[in-house]
Amino acid sequence: MSRRRMLAGAGAAGTGLVAGGLGGYFGRGAAERPRSPAAGIAGDSTSTVSFYGEHQAGIATPAQDRLAFGSLNVVAGATRSDLRELLRQWTTAAARMTAGKLVGDVTTPYAPPVDTGEAVGSPVSRLTITIGFGPALFDGRFGLATRKPAALAQLPPLPNEDLDPDYAGGDLCIQACSDDPLVAFHAVRNLARIGMGIVEHNWMELGFGRTSTTATSQQTPRNLLGFKDGTRNIRAEQTSLMNDYVWVGRETDQPWLRGGSYLVARKIRIFVESWDRDYLQDQEHVIGRAKISGAPLSGGTEFTAPDFRATGPGGQPAIPGDAHIRLASFEHNNGTRILRRGYSFTDGIDPQAGTLLGGLLFIAFMKSPAQFVRLQTALAADALNEYTQHTGSAVFACPPGLRPGQQFGDALFS
Ligand code: HEM
Repeated sequence: MSRRRMLAGAGAAGTGLVAGGLGGYFGRGAAERPRSPAAGIAGDSTSTVSFYGEHQAGIATPAQDRLAFGSLNVVAGATRSDLRELLRQWTTAAARMTAGKLVGDVTTPYAPPVDTGEAVGSPVSRLTITIGFGPALFDGRFGLATRKPAALAQLPPLPNEDLDPDYAGGDLCIQACSDDPLVAFHAVRNLARIGMGIVEHNWMELGFGRTSTTATSQQTPRNLLGFKDGTRNIRAEQTSLMNDYVWVGRETDQPWLRGGSYLVARKIRIFVESWDRDYLQDQEHVIGRAKISGAPLSGGTEFTAPDFRATGPGGQPAIPGDAHIRLASFEHNNGTRILRRGYSFTDGIDPQAGTLLGGLLFIAFMKSPAQFVRLQTALAADALNEYTQHTGSAVFACPPGLRPGQQFGDALFS
């Protein structure tokens, strides 16, 4: 079979699967597989996540295993109508891809393929696509200055950062999450490709190994420190906490953002060689938890609430004063919480030092970026700072979810 025929078949097969309501880009989809009791729950790699809803998918969605994160800038000369048309096309493409379809079904031999093709054959694996608008999008280029939410501003200088201008900000972001890295990458690549001439890449990062739990059904994963991460995260099922700390509500000055959320992204390098030389007890004191069980050093098991007043031998606090979980806790921060949804990353090796360039692509969702600022300010004294450094930073306002027929730009431009 020629390559051309194979791809033509791919489009047809993809369409057929979606018509059946279950998604795979191509090949055997969930409809053809024997049903197992696990079908449809987190971890079922053949399942789809609805693109439509009150909130964008990819925030409260149980965290998938992989991430592709793209920050893009609008190019000089692009107009308000270009941007609006781009958001319309992104909506259509995102709705298709998250349903397990190719970006488009019709490709002619005399035009570039409408879908780049690398995800053909890959199950959709719970792909979600979440988009956000950066502060600079509201700078007047597109007549959006009066639509800028007061809370959407560049973050102030914060402790433990040495920011690389190559990983800063962006007019727009695309967060694609999937249990399959190729499917996540394909989503960002194709949305950027659709935007050629209107947007260009600003920075991009691929994430592996989710470092958060965002649903009660999920096991707590581990980050590159080897510690469980996400134990005391907000869970999607905790709807009152989601309303109080994650979803933008009536307090916003911009009604178009209600039901949305702010996304703060921080590229945090972990100096793994230093960490790996630290002895276990010190590692545990740095975090404030036992490494293997994840239990707080005040005692109990993983999900026992930390007792920050408990003392150990010699009357010292069981959870040290500079432990990460003490300084980041809502008890220490006037109740402030965020929804963490980050991933580990690696950029290979530092060619000069021969050390690993990797760490945590910290992503968190919140009602206002002020929540992140509060926590990161409190982390100025964090013992973990000896082993980490924030090198990238961006903030985006993610609009609320859509109903079928609505477009990403509708509320913003109306
Ligand atoms: C490389 C950087 C970081 C690493 C490796 C890391 C790792 C961890 C670990 C292992 C925990 C304990 C388990 C848990 O409850 O999730 C934790 C908790 C937490 N972290 Fe981080 N973290 C990092 C950066 C940050 C940053 C930048 C923030 C926010 C500004 C943050 C906020 C929190 C919060 C709110 C908790 C829960 C604390 C509690 O209430 O017990 N972390 N982190």
